[in-house]
Amino acid sequence: MNFPDHLIGLRYLTKQDLDNIFKLTEFYKQKIVSRKPLERILSTKSVINLFFEDSTRTRTSFELAEKKLGMDSVNFSATGSSLSKGESLLDTIKNIEAMKFDYIVVRHSVPGIANYMTQHTTSRIINAGDGTNEHPTQGLLDIYTLKENFGSLKNLNVCIVGNISHSRVALSNIFGLKKLEANVSVCGPFSFIPKNIEGLGVNVYTDINEAIKKNDVMNILRVQLERNAGSLLPSVNEFNKYYGVTKDRLKLNPKIKILHPGPMNINVEIDYHTSVSDNSLIFEQVTNGVAVKCALFHLMNDKKIS
Ligand code: CP
Repeated sequence: MNFPDHLIGLRYLTKQDLDNIFKLTEFYKQKIVSRKPLERILSTKSVINLFFEDSTRTRTSFELAEKKLGMDSVNFSATGSSLSKGESLLDTIKNIEAMKFDYIVVRHSVPGIANYMTQHTTSRIINAGDGTNEHPTQGLLDIYTLKENFGSLKNLNVCIVGNISHSRVALSNIFGLKKLEANVSVCGPFSFIPKNIEGLGVNVYTDINEAIKKNDVMNILRVQLERNAGSLLPSVNEFNKYYGVTKDRLKLNPKIKILHPGPMNINVEIDYHTSVSDNSLIFEQVTNGVAVKCALFHLMNDKKIS
């Protein structure tokens, strides 16, 4: 089966799509960690990284993957663009379309923007995070990191902790992990847990200590203060006290593995010790982010593994 034309969300990918991406990710990971040059298989292709929200990991890793594969890569930031002169988003998109990029990587605060762009451009769209909807490449790199560490994800117990309501990372992880038959749960105060989340086939913990004891992995989400998450909490100190993953709480399950998509709020959802402990896969996630993006462009270009 062919890979889809666009990457809008993990909800739209099949298990076969995920397996194909991860097979190629393994190939690219080996090349990247051994600092071997990659074949410039996309040297005739162009891409624009259209970032309307800030980013460190996603934008940098996209740009690096694009350059490694030989693409003509252009970066766009909302700051410094003609949006400040009142140009509309649709007009901005139409102008980008007129430049005939082969790929558009887009990050925006509006859920659904990546899908909207598929209707207004002829480029292939990759969603790099659309509001509170999905962050599919983050989901892919998180899941690949777990596959590297655990092999099969079948029946692996993965708990996503924190601000689930505001999190595009949570949704992409839930959709992807469920397709690979992991047991997925979420943990946080009720104000952070969407109503009816159980409808996605996940369990809910409100006690972080119980969640740590019963899971193999904690994927710890950032408390998104920029999306007004602070208004749902008495204080960030209270959140740290009741839900922070800390050195002391790691003792409840010394084998547990820790993921965090970044950027971290140290001493809010995680402490520094946990982030650099032997339990942490956080910087492995970042390395895998480059390999996943190489694999993704390769598959979107070829459509299937040759
Ligand atoms: N995980 C993630 O999306 O990080 P950035 O915002 O730095 O890209």
